[in-house]
Amino acid sequence: MTHPVLTALGLSDNESGTYLGNGEWSKTSDAGVLEPVNPTDGEVLAKVQATSQADYDQIVERAQAAFKVWRTTPAPLRGEAVRLCANALREHKDALGSLVALEMGKSKPEGDGEVQEMIDIGDFAVGLSRQLYGLTMHSERPGHRMYEQWHPIGLVGIISAFNFPVAVWAWNAFVAAACGDICIWKPSNKTPLSAIASMRICNEALKKGGFPDIFFLINDAGTELAEKFVDDRRIALVSFTGSTKVGRQVGERVARRMGRSLLELGGNNAMIVDETADLKLAIPAIVFGAVGTAGQRCTTTRRVFIHESIFDDVLGKLVTAYGQVEKKIGDPTDPANLMGPLNSQDAVKAYEAAIEKARAAGGKVETGGKRIDRKGNFVLPTIITGLSNDAEVVQTETFAPILYVMKYSDLDDAIAMQNDVPQGLSSAIFTGSLKASERFLSAAGSDCGIANVNIGTSGAEIGGAFGGEKETGGGRESGSDAWRAYMRRQTNTINYSDALPLAQGIKFDL
Ligand code: UN1
Repeated sequence: MTHPVLTALGLSDNESGTYLGNGEWSKTSDAGVLEPVNPTDGEVLAKVQATSQADYDQIVERAQAAFKVWRTTPAPLRGEAVRLCANALREHKDALGSLVALEMGKSKPEGDGEVQEMIDIGDFAVGLSRQLYGLTMHSERPGHRMYEQWHPIGLVGIISAFNFPVAVWAWNAFVAAACGDICIWKPSNKTPLSAIASMRICNEALKKGGFPDIFFLINDAGTELAEKFVDDRRIALVSFTGSTKVGRQVGERVARRMGRSLLELGGNNAMIVDETADLKLAIPAIVFGAVGTAGQRCTTTRRVFIHESIFDDVLGKLVTAYGQVEKKIGDPTDPANLMGPLNSQDAVKAYEAAIEKARAAGGKVETGGKRIDRKGNFVLPTIITGLSNDAEVVQTETFAPILYVMKYSDLDDAIAMQNDVPQGLSSAIFTGSLKASERFLSAAGSDCGIANVNIGTSGAEIGGAFGGEKETGGGRESGSDAWRAYMRRQTNTINYSDALPLAQGIKFDL
């Protein structure tokens, strides 16, 4: 029987994973099948038919044709198209939020929150469509005008991860659409249903509004099609969210063909809690940061450095708070639960392996440390002490709710430790000291793309540019001027004089 959450969105238990444009979903049934599993009970939710080579080529050709029209559509009108999508998502927020919770395993409020992020970035992109500003410059030559303008880049490939199965697509797609690009989306093969539902909602809204196809969908049962996608010269920008391991391959392959890539890879985010911190804020921030989404955000808090004078107190409070969370682990579609299962059995294995490794390195499990004996991929949120920051397991991002808690005595040491990992996504300090906070935010402070004071590492708003340094990949998406990644810059110089002076005063008399 089809799960009622799927039925509510008009999805059946055998769906095409390929949107071809012109309102058509592919009939291909011999390109492999994806079988997204309900992480709560291990049952297959539905079959999703993968995209064939021929489907893919047809999509790229249609996308290229669509780009010719879309690039010259006035940007504010492109914004109107995005506005219709955001409004349609408002109508379907509850149903789509439930599907995200069901298929990914995050809690219902977090699933709804993810749809809210789509709506928010939609609204942002509507405003942006009237603000794709370029600069004007003063020419060094008389009678000359110089300025720059931003043009759409072309076809944008979006490869998203299971942990944010819909919001990350919207961050890219809505901004790219306002910029005049056409998007082809390959979602994670663990969460194709959330992608299909999002495409339907948005594409129906576009059709109703009389807009052409600007969003296409492909699904890959293996990795062959994804590799072709990454290597395809017709895809001007590949925006990839996922592991550092795969992201490195994507970055290298796209660079080889001189394409553009935008990489959002792993994080190993830390929080510093100093002796002046307001623990009423710090404790819930750590718990949400470490346990929210069952530790499967790239911004999840994985390390905490606590000042030695308050270490025992904070650790005790954290263990107590984890005890409260343990009572609210369960079916993520039930809004009463704070934590759902991990997304896959592989994630459970990675969780267990990391805990074993931590123990072998001398770590002490303060709470948690094992999977829960019930159906599905449920594990206990875990706190580990007694390891140093350079322990291999602490240096590694394990996509699970495992928190390494460490002690420090000097703030500069804590900042150095927080920076001393290969990744550079998100970071935070809890402090009542202006000096400590400014030191943390200074050029000698956090080396991450995101640095917060008195709020946690996860749960970034869409208004800022999102992304990180080092092995996190350097990409920025979502707000601020991240839109520039989706456009090409053109510098224009216009001579309105009767002479032809050369730059740098060069004389070239014929
Ligand atoms: C991710 O984990 O891929 O800041 C993105 C946050 C979210 C986005 C996370 N707004 O946690």
